[in-house]
Amino acid sequence: MATSILDSGDRRPTARERFERIRTVEFSDSIHPSRQLAQEASVLIREATKENPFVMGLATGSTPVPFYRELIRLHREEGLSFRNVVTFNLDEYHGLRRDHPESYFRFMHDQLFDHVDLPADQIHIPDGTIDIDAVYDYCQDYERCIEQHGGIDLQILGIGRTGHIGFNEPGSAIDSPTRMIALDRLTRRDAAADFLGEANVPRFAITMGVGTIMRARRVVLMAWGENKAEIVSQAVEGPVTDIISASFLQHHENATFVVDETAATCLTRNRCPWLVGPVTWSPAMMRKAVVWLARKIKKPVLKLIDEDYNENGMADVLAEHGGAYDVNIGVFNQLQHTITGWPGGKPGADDSYRPERAIPIHKRVVVFSPEPQDAVVAMGGTLERLVQQGHDVTLICQTSGNLRVADMEARKFATILEDIATGSQAWPEQQSYARTIQGLLDQKGEFGIDPAPVRHLKGLILRGEARDAAEACSLNEIKIRFLDLPFYEDGRYRRFNLGENDITATASVLAELRPHQIFTTGDVADPSSLQALCFRALLEAWSRDENRPWFSQCRVWLYRGKEKPLADHEIDMAVPLSPIQLERKINAIRKFQSIRQDEWEAASLNRTNATNYDSLGMAEYEAIESFQMLRNPRPH
Ligand code: GLP
Repeated sequence: MATSILDSGDRRPTARERFERIRTVEFSDSIHPSRQLAQEASVLIREATKENPFVMGLATGSTPVPFYRELIRLHREEGLSFRNVVTFNLDEYHGLRRDHPESYFRFMHDQLFDHVDLPADQIHIPDGTIDIDAVYDYCQDYERCIEQHGGIDLQILGIGRTGHIGFNEPGSAIDSPTRMIALDRLTRRDAAADFLGEANVPRFAITMGVGTIMRARRVVLMAWGENKAEIVSQAVEGPVTDIISASFLQHHENATFVVDETAATCLTRNRCPWLVGPVTWSPAMMRKAVVWLARKIKKPVLKLIDEDYNENGMADVLAEHGGAYDVNIGVFNQLQHTITGWPGGKPGADDSYRPERAIPIHKRVVVFSPEPQDAVVAMGGTLERLVQQGHDVTLICQTSGNLRVADMEARKFATILEDIATGSQAWPEQQSYARTIQGLLDQKGEFGIDPAPVRHLKGLILRGEARDAAEACSLNEIKIRFLDLPFYEDGRYRRFNLGENDITATASVLAELRPHQIFTTGDVADPSSLQALCFRALLEAWSRDENRPWFSQCRVWLYRGKEKPLADHEIDMAVPLSPIQLERKINAIRKFQSIRQDEWEAASLNRTNATNYDSLGMAEYEAIESFQMLRNPRPH
């Protein structure tokens, strides 16, 4: 039977949870716990009456969306009524009108309120349009209103990457009330894609305080995706501090964290399971543990001695494998075998310990790039090597990437076109096109959404740059394809909905190209991100091709971007780049002028990989691009 989320029962913490100061329930994905939580909450909602309503504190963001979807389903299919529910939302951006596409008011109505029978006068969301001078009184009224309804019965929370709950940014006190707050840099950066640029993200918000949240009778904080892993572990296992407002929940009587397995990766039970209980010392576990130990005590692998293992809770490895010497050699070899200058396999070489097979000598390689720049940034050097080593490489840009292109670029194009067309009597259509684009850009204003013709033009601009970048990686122009997946074309970041057409388009390109090797993004840390969705489209497409002959011979390699680079123990293939090769990759990234891609950031990531390998005792390279092999490619 699944562990209850809301009922913690009367039990003592298990050894696994010894390090955890907040009850944390881990699930393999985010959908099942969201459904379960909604079902558990529905029991309480059904018990509520007019006189004694169920008071819910609600959160925005992508995290609670599956929970809201299940509530809607329960309402539609199982007669769950919200007539006796009162809701209080955590927060709202200050300065946004309620009908702004990014306002939390709009979000809550789109995601939940418009689909259930919750009476409008039982909904409370801080009003972002309140005049600065009136905010203080307004916030006090909000607090009073919660109290008048008997306090919050169940508070739903997500967590921001600064560890904030609601918008209680670092520095918020444990007894802080509802108030206006300045948003942290990282929070604004995380919201930048939603607002199509950091500059458009509001600077202030109204938020319930930590004190308000602490008074709720039950608190459930959900966190999905590897992006949240670090902050979840700090909140659950670290000291209580106002730098991470979620850590205050350690003092709450009835708080539970619900996490999927990726958001749980930094908890000690997963990061260093050998510290928590007995483990099976598989080669992968051994590599993880030894790399952790070498990093911790800052020694290269081959210099670790028995005492290092004993003093750091790894005595049982020695007992099982002889002594430090043997363990060190084993892991050193594992790491060494990940390094190759032949990412498509080395012809004629013994490939028993190489990351990729030698045969077939000339492979059909498909490189998927969610937005056109992603693959070049993550694996421009490897791309070039694959081409130069004679493989048949096709670069597939899954989406047009048009949301990334600045208005200025579209305007520049339209202005040049207008200048040319005006000088030539024969080009009235071009002139009118140029003017239409300029007019549309003027109309949409600061926070507006690009109309289709502007998005189309921006996509074309990026297409040209992608061709130049591919060429800079030695790829012939005909080997780059643009899928323009439909889910992206009329969507917004974090609001995309993957559809059947996206999967069919991906499946048909696989069936046509029958690859021996696929390189694709492994950036799935944020499950609502564009990269994660493109990855899902690929997995779905892939699972439909299971019976085709090429399928069993195809290997899938994952690359990662800057958000969550591969840890050293996760790397299955490390492709070193010489200083010249890195220079060429930087040059290729520079071709993406219209989206201001930071080529130095990409280079420094590759240099860090090299430094890390060096400090573990491997050879010293200028830079390394790293990949993980996808062992069990199955969609969830
Ligand atoms: C914002 C909201 C928080 C939310 C956080 C995480 O900062 N104010 O309530 O928890 O974003 O958002 P997401 O769930 O999209 O990761």
